[in-house]
Amino acid sequence: MTDATVRAAFRTQAEWARRMGAPFTEALQTALGEVIDRSTAVGRRVLDWPGEPIADALVIRLLGGLHALVRSGDLPALAALYPPHPAPDAGTLAARLAEALADADVAARLLPWLDSPPQTNEVGRSAVLMAGLRAVAAAFPLPLRTVELGASGGLNLRLDAYAYDLGGDRFGPADAPLTLAPAWTGPPPPAADVRIAERIGVDIAPLDVARDRDRLLAYVWPDQPARAARLAAAIDAFVADPAPLVKDDAADFVEANVAPQPGVTTVVLHSIAFQYFPAAARARIAAHLDRVGAGATPAAALAWLRYEFDGPDATAASLRLVLWPDGDRLLARAHPHGAKVEWLG
Ligand SMILES: C[S@@+](CC[C@H](N)C(=O)[O-])C[C@H]1O[C@@H](n2cnc3c(N)ncnc32)[C@H](O)[C@@H]1O
Repeated sequence: MTDATVRAAFRTQAEWARRMGAPFTEALQTALGEVIDRSTAVGRRVLDWPGEPIADALVIRLLGGLHALVRSGDLPALAALYPPHPAPDAGTLAARLAEALADADVAARLLPWLDSPPQTNEVGRSAVLMAGLRAVAAAFPLPLRTVELGASGGLNLRLDAYAYDLGGDRFGPADAPLTLAPAWTGPPPPAADVRIAERIGVDIAPLDVARDRDRLLAYVWPDQPARAARLAAAIDAFVADPAPLVKDDAADFVEANVAPQPGVTTVVLHSIAFQYFPAAARARIAAHLDRVGAGATPAAALAWLRYEFDGPDATAASLRLVLWPDGDRLLARAHPHGAKVEWLG
């Protein structure tokens, strides 16, 4: 990669942060893209990145590492510029970042963050998935058997434990650990009862949310405290009452375990995960579901609920539902963290 390509990746990510309503993250990414240079070990590693920086989430790796150091209290000079402190001017932010990157101890702790892709588990997505499950339950009034692919730490597996306000329709347990209320346009989703009889999550590298708590929180952008609070609450709830999560390849698992079963609707679902599966795995999943879906009936139904990016632009996602024996529909356009939903139904 050339320096220009890597610096452009910082600008692209900054633009996405601006569009996602995260001005401090935007400023941080803009400043980092300008101050990194080959005088520091971190700068050399970033500018000499061998892969594609956007696809490798290079900027997010670096941001996660910095945020972890800030959260740990080990970078007080930089922490003083992070929210909830007032937004710094661009020059001050750039100067403090340059100082931090030039510090050998900081570099030694930051470099490992560049080694592995960010792993996140966004619980705000439960609102969008729950709306989709209501559409499934409205089509076939059966209990659900949910199979989540790319489930990460499993925080969206227990989505029926959370409370919701979806387009004015409020529901969920009175003692829910968190409430999700995305900005909503369009009608509410169908008011169908979602009963999950059985659930399982699959991930090639499942997170242990208790062990990885700090790491997960470090990847939340520093100007999104409500998102961090929601994540912390979901982690605590999962630790107290975990859901089954298996380590497996999504395609291998689907081929071995997914077929319509009498008395339930089997729902294969995933959020911002499919793009991370190898192309061959994606094709195998689609082919398997088509094959077993041909045998589905309203009494042994099959659903495929996909909440995924529309394309390379990481600010727009949509919720699609394929039902066997019923067909394919676009249910919603949604913010990738579930902050906004345009329900099409
Ligand atoms: C961006 S995360 C999505 C996390 C979660 N679905 C959410 O919405 O917060 C993508 C996940 O896909 C998993 N993954 C990647 N390749 C996979 C595969 N072949 N089979 C199963 N999981 C895979 C990763 O380990 C990662 O946890």
